Amino acid sequence: MRKKICKLLITGGCGFIGSAFTRQAITSGYKVVVVDKITYAGDEARLRDFKGKYKFYKTDICNEKKISEIVKNEKPDVIIHFAAETHVDRSILDARAFIDTNVSGTQNLINVSRKFKISKFVHISTDEIYGDSKSGTFTETSQLKPSNPYSATKAAADMLVKAAIRTYNFPAIIIRPSNNYGPWQYPEKLVPVVILKALNNQKVPVYGVGAQIREWLFVEDCARGIRLILKKGKIGEAYNIGSYFEKKNLDTVKRILKEVGKPEDLIKFVQDRPGHDFRYSLNCEKVRKLGWRPKVNFESGIKETVKWYLDNLGWTKNKLTVLQKYWKLVYQKKGSKQ
Ligand SMILES: NC(=O)c1ccc[n+]([C@@H]2O[C@H](COP(=O)([O-])OP(=O)(O)OC[C@H]3O[C@@H](n4cnc5c(N)ncnc54)[C@H](O)[C@@H]3O)[C@@H](O)[C@H]2O)c1
Repeated sequence: MRKKICKLLITGGCGFIGSAFTRQAITSGYKVVVVDKITYAGDEARLRDFKGKYKFYKTDICNEKKISEIVKNEKPDVIIHFAAETHVDRSILDARAFIDTNVSGTQNLINVSRKFKISKFVHISTDEIYGDSKSGTFTETSQLKPSNPYSATKAAADMLVKAAIRTYNFPAIIIRPSNNYGPWQYPEKLVPVVILKALNNQKVPVYGVGAQIREWLFVEDCARGIRLILKKGKIGEAYNIGSYFEKKNLDTVKRILKEVGKPEDLIKFVQDRPGHDFRYSLNCEKVRKLGWRPKVNFESGIKETVKWYLDNLGWTKNKLTVLQKYWKLVYQKKGSKQ
């Protein structure tokens, strides 16, 4: 008889998607251990309503010895791996931390999981590993063609997991979500950037002419999809999770400005991101066959997200100060103006 899954070790559980998943996992009865280094993007405040309901280790996944000790002591049934460096612009400036965490960190987790015979390893990959496509959609068997340093490290991690599945019969499942948005997202990503700049009547930067297309997935829907795949997904398989809701970046920005009640002349077109992927698009029939559908459409998701940021301006205030300092340093180093 199959052993009942009860204890999850979640890496990156203090990040944006990892915390949404952690909150849902605790609510639905799992025992949870969170391992997070708390980088600039991590914050245990995202789990503040669940204090005392999970165990927390402030640990770097690059430290194989410490991860080994945690897994040895906690004996989780499943490891769910969200931890990563995730911001494309930062990876373009310097990819080192991305290689360390996303590639070496993932291999460490594979090593430790094998050593302690973990029964299931769920790897959170991304739609960005497929690269972009002007038309058509990517299925789970499409070729991996990443085009920026972030997605290259995520593709490397995805391939390391695939290699472990084939070489060692490693009991892993790979999940590739599309662009997430929602409450608690770190304010360097598109949706919170637009909300917060607009609220402060600052110019809202849009890369190029805003023609890039993204498939927007509400974070709670993504976390629900991951929970379903954890239960019903087949070991050795990959699953895309997307909403089928594609939107041009410029239209996304305009929709947010409308929700915040600000004029479109706040939009400022800026030099495009180097190598900017034009369009991501996933075929999600495989996860739909398991019974998953997004519940939150873009309209209600944006309303909920804007409301959340308005209600939680205190949380973003410190983050914005740290971010400003970071970009100031970057521009000083490059000898150019902000
Ligand atoms: N945000 C998206 O739209 C999106 C889409 C598809 C896939 N993903 C993937 O989902 C996962 C989570 O993304 P997110 O947006 O929540 O990221 P995030 O940047 O909000 O959170 C990442 C978390 O990982 C932690 N972390 C980073 N390096 C670590 C290390 N070395 N050791 C331990 N913890 C470390 C951080 O402290 C943080 O809590 C990532 O693997 C990402 O590639 C994200």
